[in-house]
Amino acid sequence: MTQPGVSDVVEAAIESRRQQVNQAIAEELPVKEPTRLWEASRYLLDAGGKRLRPTVLLLMAEALSGVEPGTRSYRSFPSLTGTEVDILSAAVSVEIIQTFTLIHDDIMDADSYRRGVHTVHEEFDLETAILAGDTLYAKSFEIILETGAPVERSNQAIGQLARTCTAICEGQALDVGFEGRRDVSTDAYLNMIEQKTAVLYATSASLPGILLGADDETVDALYEFGLDFGRAFQIKDDLLDLTADTETLGKDQGSDLIEGKRTVVTIHAQNNGLDVDDLVADPELSLDAVVRALEEAGSLTYAEDLASEYVASAKAHLELLDDTPARTLLADLADYVVHREY
Ligand code: IPE
Ligand code: IPE
Ligand code: MG
Ligand code: MG
Ligand code: MG
Repeated sequence: MTQPGVSDVVEAAIESRRQQVNQAIAEELPVKEPTRLWEASRYLLDAGGKRLRPTVLLLMAEALSGVEPGTRSYRSFPSLTGTEVDILSAAVSVEIIQTFTLIHDDIMDADSYRRGVHTVHEEFDLETAILAGDTLYAKSFEIILETGAPVERSNQAIGQLARTCTAICEGQALDVGFEGRRDVSTDAYLNMIEQKTAVLYATSASLPGILLGADDETVDALYEFGLDFGRAFQIKDDLLDLTADTETLGKDQGSDLIEGKRTVVTIHAQNNGLDVDDLVADPELSLDAVVRALEEAGSLTYAEDLASEYVASAKAHLELLDDTPARTLLADLADYVVHREY
């Protein structure tokens, strides 16, 4: 029998947590009146999604408590102070925030596909998509109130989630504001992706620390792990937008190029004398030809190397934790994020 590879092990770890998160989502968000709103709210959640943020959260809880991964109920999970916490609620909460941001992001980015199905504003309508996003946003706060953690930790967790939502809005505003601009620096891009994407990973990684009663130093290290993990994740997302086809990705290939987004890839190209906006505007050039030009300019390799640097930095932040199977899985998950194909 051949040994399972690291990515098989990581995918199995994601899958078992995904099933539990999905079941909890169905319990938390039943379809009721007005059914069109609740169906639209459930539509993307039911379509799929990798569930990477709840996986980070649940694995981090296991790494902190030192329990064998997958052996304890997430609904009554041992904290560091003897009480039990419903950590699954926190995992569901971050996934619901994620899905809310996707529904609104697809409106902003004028996209048609997400998680292999139509985007919510196309499947339903714009009004319903805005409301479905708002509904999920509010529900995530209701749900994080259900962890049963001591009130001080619970309050801290809610504050953390709220600040994260503000940061995502700021990041998305920067992203939209950068469209078509030729003067966006790599530093400005890195700040933008920190806000729009990395903070939600940082919150997913640090919420178990807060809710299970870890010390401040540990909570900070978990947050930094999530930031670097999230930066690597978004750089890979920007690469996949160029290199993965719509079917594999489950979302529109080349959306960033068409929308004139600034990414680390296009900024690198610009700095090396290749004007991506001009290439995209050239009716003679296919999307594939533009991607080939970016590849020849070394811009894809540059982005891949940068993502790998962030993965290495993320893993270094885990050193503070005891060496457990859950910690190993988190490090493997960080590697997986930059090797994934969708
Ligand atoms: C997409 O996130 C949004 C970004 C921050 C790039 P994911 O690629 O994790 O999307 P799902 O949740 O798996 O659909
Ligand atoms: C989205 O970034 C970040 C958030 C949803 C907050 P993208 O616009 O690159 O995400 P995708 O590629 O559409 O998933
Ligand atoms: Mg988008
Ligand atoms: Mg976007
Ligand atoms: Mg993207």
